[in-house]
Amino acid sequence: MSDKPEKFIDENGLRLDGRKLDQIRDVKIEVGVLARADGSCYLEFGNNKVMAAVYGPREVHPRHQQESTRAIVRYKYNMASFSVEDRKRPGPDRRSTEVSKVSREALEDQVFTEYFPKSAIDVFVEVLQADAGTRTAALNAASVALADAGIPMRGLVSACAFGKVDDTLVVDLSKDEDNYGQADVPIAMTQDGKITLLQMDGHLTPEELKTGLLMAQEGCRQVYEIQRQALMDHYAKMQDTNKDETEAPSVEEVVTAEENKDSEDVTTEAEEVEEEVAGETDEEKPEIKENAPEEEKEEEETDEKIVEETVEEPDTEEDDSHE
Ligand code: CDP
Repeated sequence: MSDKPEKFIDENGLRLDGRKLDQIRDVKIEVGVLARADGSCYLEFGNNKVMAAVYGPREVHPRHQQESTRAIVRYKYNMASFSVEDRKRPGPDRRSTEVSKVSREALEDQVFTEYFPKSAIDVFVEVLQADAGTRTAALNAASVALADAGIPMRGLVSACAFGKVDDTLVVDLSKDEDNYGQADVPIAMTQDGKITLLQMDGHLTPEELKTGLLMAQEGCRQVYEIQRQALMDHYAKMQDTNKDETEAPSVEEVVTAEENKDSEDVTTEAEEVEEEVAGETDEEKPEIKENAPEEEKEEEETDEKIVEETVEEPDTEEDDSHE
């Protein structure tokens, strides 16, 4: 683990990783990456790497969890043992249980659960690489995966933290800022700014909390734009693929085309035979043009006679010699 930095913000007002106070880390989103999930999303938030998979609406197991009037939403956050610097003991622990609970609550209200009574919508998030802010990264991925699964929702949920370092408010804490800072406040919001998750670790004045919320709101808005764009790009790509598929010939069209092709081949073969026969006859026929003038015809006939006579000459000579 790295040591506590002397200063978090330099004289130019930049943070340790060169970001401005209100600048979030780079976000990359890929939608529909898992073939066996109903919806999925791979997301990078700075150095955080998470994978979210959504299954459902589907039957509830165990049955006693089922709700007669709505679907239940289940959320499982898991940190891979290799995702952190010091290997994490595999399996659930108090932290992952807490993160799973608050994340489920952050998403559940956005889902039209009443459309799917007695069923379950399962969200699984695996943290592959952790670098502070994994619960917010996981929520962003889960929200996109739910949309990818076609689950009816009121809107997307976008998440981003703010905190305090060197008595200054900053958005989207880095690892050192999270570990050694004065406060860490992960937030999740709906598109219209309704807060669905707010946790606080550390100390803030009411004023700082208000200002920080506005900073996080702007961060969430930026994340939302990236989520939305990723979904739009994914569906545009899918539409192109579907278009190609619809343009492909149907089975009937293929069969008809094959039949036509066969009959064309037969015609061609017959034609070839005819052409061959016609060709042989043509070779045998003397080349007399039908409309050729009489003189030309006569000349040709005379030429033929001369050839015949020339061929017969040796025979005559031989006969003569015998005599
Ligand atoms: O990840 P998030 O900020 O949502 O949760 P946290 O409990 O504040 O954890 C902050 C960071 O500590 C994580 O992102 C990890 O990088 C690190 N951590 C760790 O190294 N080992 C753990 N068992 C848990 C967290």
